Amino acid sequence: MAASLFDQAAAAAQFLRQQAQSVQPQIGLVLGSGLGAVAGILADATRIPYSAIPHFPQSTVVGHSGQLHLGTLNSVGVAILQGRVHFYEGYTPEQVTFPTRVLGLLGIDTLILTNAGGAIRPGLSIGQLLLLSDHINLLGFNPLVGPNEPRFAARFAARPGAGQRFFDMTAAYDPALRSLARRVAAKQNLTLDEAVYLAVPGPSFETPAEIRAFQRLGADLVGMSTVPETIVARHSGLRVLGISCVTNLAAGLGNSTLSHEEVFAAGRSVETRLAQLLLALIPEIGAAALAQSHSEKSNPQEPAS
Ligand code: HPA
Repeated sequence: MAASLFDQAAAAAQFLRQQAQSVQPQIGLVLGSGLGAVAGILADATRIPYSAIPHFPQSTVVGHSGQLHLGTLNSVGVAILQGRVHFYEGYTPEQVTFPTRVLGLLGIDTLILTNAGGAIRPGLSIGQLLLLSDHINLLGFNPLVGPNEPRFAARFAARPGAGQRFFDMTAAYDPALRSLARRVAAKQNLTLDEAVYLAVPGPSFETPAEIRAFQRLGADLVGMSTVPETIVARHSGLRVLGISCVTNLAAGLGNSTLSHEEVFAAGRSVETRLAQLLLALIPEIGAAALAQSHSEKSNPQEPAS
């Protein structure tokens, strides 16, 4: 019989532990289109190609080179996924979220998801960084469909909803992490506005009529990733922070013809700013998470039944 999803993710996590025994990652970071160079924030990381990790899916998209970086930043352990796989490549929802599950089992507390998005809300500009405040899932699937597996959330049994069949998504993008990110950004003279991200399967870009419809639904930004990882991370009890880079105006709102090259080039143009933000933010998140885990240990909540 094939190994279960849990056993496969546990095998991958065990393999990674053996590769970088001295690093205990506390924060996971997923890099979106054109943002791969941000991985350079970890100076002395161990780099592991996805092809070497048991059961890990490999991206087929130009600009999404697949490597996992394990290292530290100001003594905070960080695991960076440079390159993600998408539903439009033909991967199943389980495969798309497999790396998130592995990072969860590896012991992270917080997952930072970055992506490229097309701007729907008027006033957003290309190259702007945005914090996700919420999402709308129009992918047509939920990656948790299937048997519930509470073992993915074993470390966080005290966090409300973690590992449960049904759980709350009201504050999927952690409000405290969002305020911390805004404070750190302000010190760099960077304003981080918030946005609602709408996920579509792709791979075609949207039609102008679809974008007008999404505007009426309350979306600020459209993209083809992130939402499956957020759902799985929240089920695992992880805290999630989403940061989007506006790479283009959504279909019908600008003058240019949409292309992957445009999206990729715009991503490249903000990666230095994103790297600066993360360099300052990650140590702060590490310190805040440490304080939180001390308070969880001294005030354990009854896990919901
Ligand atoms: N649509 C969908 N996904 C995207 C876009 C877009 O306009 N830009 C970057 N990712």
